[in-house]
Amino acid sequence: MTDIEETLANLSREDRRFEPPADLAANANLKADAYEAAAADREGFWAEQAERLTWATKWDQVLDWTNPPFATWFVGGTLNAAYNCVDRHVEAGRGDKVAIHWVGEPEGDTRDLTYADLQREVSKAANALTDLGVAKGDRVAIYMPMIPEAVVAMLACARIGAPHTVVFGGFSADALASRLDDCQAKVVVTADGGYRRGAASALKPAVDEARSKTDVVEKVLVVRRTNQEVDWDDSVDVWWHDVVDSASEEHTPEAFDSEHPLYVMYTSGTTGKPKGILHTTGGYLVGSSYTHHAVFDLKPETDVYWCTADIGWVTGHSYIVYGPLANGATQVLYEGTPDHPERGRWWKIIEQYGVTIFYTAPTAIRSFMKQGHDVPDTFDMSSLRILGSVGEPINPEAYVWYRHVIGGDRTPVVDTWWQTETGSIMISPLPGVTAGKPGSAMTPIPGIEAEVVDDEGNPVPNGSGGYLVVTSPWPSMLRTIWGDDERFKDTYWKRFEKQGYYFAGDGAKKDDDGDIWVLGRVDDVMNVSGHRLSTTEIESALVSHPKVAEAAVVGASDPDTGQAPVAYVILREEAGDGGEGIAKELSDHVRKEIGPIAKPRQIMIVPELPKTRSGKIMRRLLRDVAEKREVGDTTTLADSSIMDLISAGQATST
Ligand code: WT7
Repeated sequence: MTDIEETLANLSREDRRFEPPADLAANANLKADAYEAAAADREGFWAEQAERLTWATKWDQVLDWTNPPFATWFVGGTLNAAYNCVDRHVEAGRGDKVAIHWVGEPEGDTRDLTYADLQREVSKAANALTDLGVAKGDRVAIYMPMIPEAVVAMLACARIGAPHTVVFGGFSADALASRLDDCQAKVVVTADGGYRRGAASALKPAVDEARSKTDVVEKVLVVRRTNQEVDWDDSVDVWWHDVVDSASEEHTPEAFDSEHPLYVMYTSGTTGKPKGILHTTGGYLVGSSYTHHAVFDLKPETDVYWCTADIGWVTGHSYIVYGPLANGATQVLYEGTPDHPERGRWWKIIEQYGVTIFYTAPTAIRSFMKQGHDVPDTFDMSSLRILGSVGEPINPEAYVWYRHVIGGDRTPVVDTWWQTETGSIMISPLPGVTAGKPGSAMTPIPGIEAEVVDDEGNPVPNGSGGYLVVTSPWPSMLRTIWGDDERFKDTYWKRFEKQGYYFAGDGAKKDDDGDIWVLGRVDDVMNVSGHRLSTTEIESALVSHPKVAEAAVVGASDPDTGQAPVAYVILREEAGDGGEGIAKELSDHVRKEIGPIAKPRQIMIVPELPKTRSGKIMRRLLRDVAEKREVGDTTTLADSSIMDLISAGQATST
């Protein structure tokens, strides 16, 4: 049985339902009638959601979809995203409200920032960036640990209309360089390093190395976080505390067109080259603030919200920075790892800050499940009222454990399906409305129209599987791939061009009630701990090693990380057997080329790869070997004896 068949079989046995608690339902931000209102007049519904924001000039048309797939939302409207996330809360008399309870990894290293503090910091950083030569439209890269300055830097960019591109701190210098190059980033904001697992890790050296590979960067703005030694180039490097601390606290935000680029976020596609997903200002901010209000039922006066994502991923953009801050939330921002210095560190933070809404990923939940409930049981987490999950399918066992052990059986679990490209949550239960089913993302939220379709683009009947598509445009949709409109059209809109559907790249099933279960990618993209990696990207990294002739990578199912990369490598003749430690050598190479998350779980040196007569690698068969299944149909292979060689070689795999 394949993974998907097994999942489908298990689904039909899942009949647990969790009704929303009565008080939550009675006071919910969104009630059941929102579905009907949105269905009756979708654009009118979005126009109403747009009223959540403060516009400098109101739009005169909700949506222009005359040139699909290129959308214009809130046509003619102007606004400033940073003003909406910061200043307007201060102007409304909420300047003393805490915006961010920041918790550094070293215990006791904490900082609270109110909305008024944030306004001062963002204004100073905006002035400093302007002084460094950043103007409206220039790209600024942000390569930072999870410290308040990361949020400040993003908002400062938004404030001056300079699209940011945040690169996850776990990416290597090479990965950083290719992103800097692709979007021609003029300035990089970074830090000397950050704290992870009790030690100071370095970031600045990767920026230095990236600068040796591309000459686009003019200035590097460096936050001092750990006090470690850094190399310094006076013509390029500038300390944050030198130029931001002394900058003026006065900065007038300019209103930008609704479609002005807000940020570029790189994500893996099916080719080796990451895609720069472009989000623009008005629609994105409407989408992220509306969904945060609807799906997390945020009550800004009383809730303490915490999303554990890193700001280097889209989740951090939409559900740490833009959604929560536009909504005036009080939130926790945590720098470090979940289990440092103790295994209950997260639960301790929930207890200390009285967190009410908690949003994390299934991979983290599964790792806590393995540790058992003794640790969480020692903390008082009775403040929690809603739990969220994102990044990959949540298996019913993890869902039920999360609800029971962390949520004390009180809290709805919202399993939220969305993507870097969608900008905000698309399919999810509503915590005050939906009777949740463990493992199902349920239905599109009000305002969103999605379907599961067959190869021809026809909706599948209940009880069947197919491809997940979005059938009408939505405000926070990606506008294009940075610098590559053709790839944008090819990747997302070509597959169901006739119907004009957005193709998400995921397989899904509608159960007998018509509720959606997202099953995972249907392309050569794998999901490792909720992070997207492309098989081709890892293959390219492997073949760039001098000893490697050819490589094939598959995403094998993994009990901890969801999927894990497994690599099959043919060595060059002159490399012989590669020498002792060849697997580690190749694995370190992938780590250097992309980053630690891309490191293969296993590398097997093989004499040949299974290929069809037309030369296409049959990854399906390699997945069978990696997942220790009987190898499937090999009749289309050019040489069917190859699988015997590979399966036999497994015994001696490195
Ligand atoms: C891919 C998007 C959305 C922010 C985090 C990842 C998978 C995401 C779910 C979910 C099943 C999910 C999909 C999707 N995914 N959320 N709730 N259930 N699968 O963003 O890196 O753009 O990855 O993550 O496969 O296509 P991303």
